[in-house]
Amino acid sequence: MFQSQSFFGQYGSYFISGTGLTLALAAIGVFFGALLGTVLALMKRAHVKGTASAFGKAGKSLAKGFSYVYVEYVRGTPLMVQVYMIFFGATALFHLNINAFSAGAIAVSLNSAAYVSEIIRSGINSIADGQTEAARSLGMSESKAMRFVILPQAVKNILPALGNEFVTVIKESSVVSVIGVGELMFKTATVQGASFKPFLPLVVTSIIYFVLTFSLSRLLGLLEKKFNMSDKH
Ligand code: ARG
Repeated sequence: MFQSQSFFGQYGSYFISGTGLTLALAAIGVFFGALLGTVLALMKRAHVKGTASAFGKAGKSLAKGFSYVYVEYVRGTPLMVQVYMIFFGATALFHLNINAFSAGAIAVSLNSAAYVSEIIRSGINSIADGQTEAARSLGMSESKAMRFVILPQAVKNILPALGNEFVTVIKESSVVSVIGVGELMFKTATVQGASFKPFLPLVVTSIIYFVLTFSLSRLLGLLEKKFNMSDKH
């Protein structure tokens, strides 16, 4: 008992639980980011005939304007500032006492949504106008052309970029440690303090992040290859 345990015996559980929270944050962030990002991308395309006609005439430019301001503002301010703003803003504006994890998850989701909306928008824009024209000349309506011709092709650009967004969010979620979310970076600081070792915990953490992001991008690369295969005859 007086003999000190090995570093991992003593602190391994911190790294494991931290990694769990990091992955949970990233998964939640990209999931809701993808949902909200799709809505934002649709709002931005609201002016295009046949897309998102649900908005109605006056609402269309409002939707477009909102989406534009949102995306530019979120991408133009640091994630760290946004994390603090959600955490303290919930109390200051709505008298809501949300816990750090919820605030972090909301901030990461709202942040990711702005980036995802650009991914989706550019994915759709990258499909040539000629494709829409060809579909229209075959008698498809504007929205049918979008559903059956444009989107199936756009998805091939969108999915790999969404995968990259997941990799990015795994790394960027480390910022939420500033409000005390017990994810990997926060737990690293805990271990640094408890072990009186400032460097070793960081080495372990950097390896964990690297293994996560590297294996994920390898996996995405494989999937992408498989996807593209169906294009070749
Ligand atoms: N670190 C940058 C920031 O603080 C980039 C955030 C990137 N986020 C994303 N969801 N791709 O603004």
